[in-house]
Amino acid sequence: DPTKKVDRFLYAMRLHDDQLKDISARFQAEMKKGLSAESNAAAAVKMLPTHVRSTPDGTEKGQFVALDLGGSKFKVLQVKVREGMGIRRGGVEMEEKIYPIPKELLSGRGTELFDHVSESLKDFLHEKNISLEKKHPLAFTFSFPCEHSKLDQGLLVNWSKNYRVRGLQGKDVVKTLREAIDRTGGMNVEVLAMVNDTVATMMTCGFDDQYCDVGLIIGTGTNACYMEGLRNVDLVEGDEGRMCINTEWGGFGDDGALNDYITEFDREVDAASNNPGKQIFEKMVSGMYLGELVRLVVLKMAKRGKLFDGQVSDALRTTGKITTAHVAAMEQYKTGLNNTRDILTELDLNPSPDDCVAVQHISTIVSFRSSNLVAAGLAAILSRIKRNRNLRTLRITVGVDGTVYKTHPQYPKRLHKVVRRLLPECHVRFVLSDSGSSKGAALVTAVAQRLASLRQ
Ligand code: BG6
Ligand code: GLC
Repeated sequence: DPTKKVDRFLYAMRLHDDQLKDISARFQAEMKKGLSAESNAAAAVKMLPTHVRSTPDGTEKGQFVALDLGGSKFKVLQVKVREGMGIRRGGVEMEEKIYPIPKELLSGRGTELFDHVSESLKDFLHEKNISLEKKHPLAFTFSFPCEHSKLDQGLLVNWSKNYRVRGLQGKDVVKTLREAIDRTGGMNVEVLAMVNDTVATMMTCGFDDQYCDVGLIIGTGTNACYMEGLRNVDLVEGDEGRMCINTEWGGFGDDGALNDYITEFDREVDAASNNPGKQIFEKMVSGMYLGELVRLVVLKMAKRGKLFDGQVSDALRTTGKITTAHVAAMEQYKTGLNNTRDILTELDLNPSPDDCVAVQHISTIVSFRSSNLVAAGLAAILSRIKRNRNLRTLRITVGVDGTVYKTHPQYPKRLHKVVRRLLPECHVRFVLSDSGSSKGAALVTAVAQRLASLRQ
């Protein structure tokens, strides 16, 4: 059985429940550290207050333009929210356009990236005939860590994933966007709120489900947010009510907390990345890295003579040649083994039927570890919420988005199963965000707009 040798080779990636509980406990400790004023500055998991204080209640309404930057696609959208309470749920209409970002902008200057963003916005407004007469409120989903002192201000903590734009770290991203919009000219928009994609996802799913208090992304990157009692948030004044916390859990492990779970393949991925030593958890979990982990394992096993009779190709030696889309294809029901053979053949390899079974199994172990780690993190968040609320059983909904969750054929099922096994006393519902981030960002903006008009 060719899966046996893979199991032995990758035993360190096959995490059993005791290990997952241990990881979950470590993540709980990290959350505490990030929330406390004394230890926050040194915390690997930043636990950023978002200044979003409630989930949707059905009274949100209005017309918004929205920007969604930082996932696998940059989008400009128009979102119309109709009010609706109780069983007469409100409705949302959306139109979107994807604008490709030239690759060089991802490592260029901040002003160049934001000029591209605002020119795309202008193109969209023009194409959709959106008038210049009245001011259009703008909702901004920005999928990177920001320190907010209010909804329409946020200092970029650092870039992650495939972005390493110069000159923006520590700067207010909303201000940067406003300046770019002014430079481009000929638009009448007002940036009212900026939210992380996790927050937008929680809000999107919260529009139809009042129990949705957690947002989860498993895409290019990975991250989660949740509603926390304000009394536990040292960095924001006040004790009454709740606030959404962007955990930035991708940074779990950056201080060594996961060292005994890290394999040589994780170290290699980290060393070759844009941000060595940073986003350690993210590199074990998210779509930007899963394919590369699989490639490194396959390469090593081949070099050791455990695959393809020891044959190695130039393609297999090339970074990025196995992608997360390949991983998903290899694990497809029924067609997975054929897909595996095709993928390996494309890499100029000559796989035997046993090789295909073995490589498919490598893919399964790597992607299973990812869903296991997410389950451990989620279990920590959910049991924290349960303890906060002093409940014996917790009923809660998790809103989810991201290409890995949406396109990997087995991922959701595995994740749900492990979370329920780790937390038998929670009734967890997972809801896929059907329409991306912008609906949720618009809902946050609707509340911000109402509050702003009350102040005037
Ligand atoms: C999209 C959201 O649906 O999912 C984005 O609109 C988000 O805001 C993204 O960043 C995450 O997934 P991916 O796979 O595109 O990184
Ligand atoms: C990265 C970003 C985080 C984002 C996540 C998912 O981890 O740092 O802000 O939510 O990717 O897109």
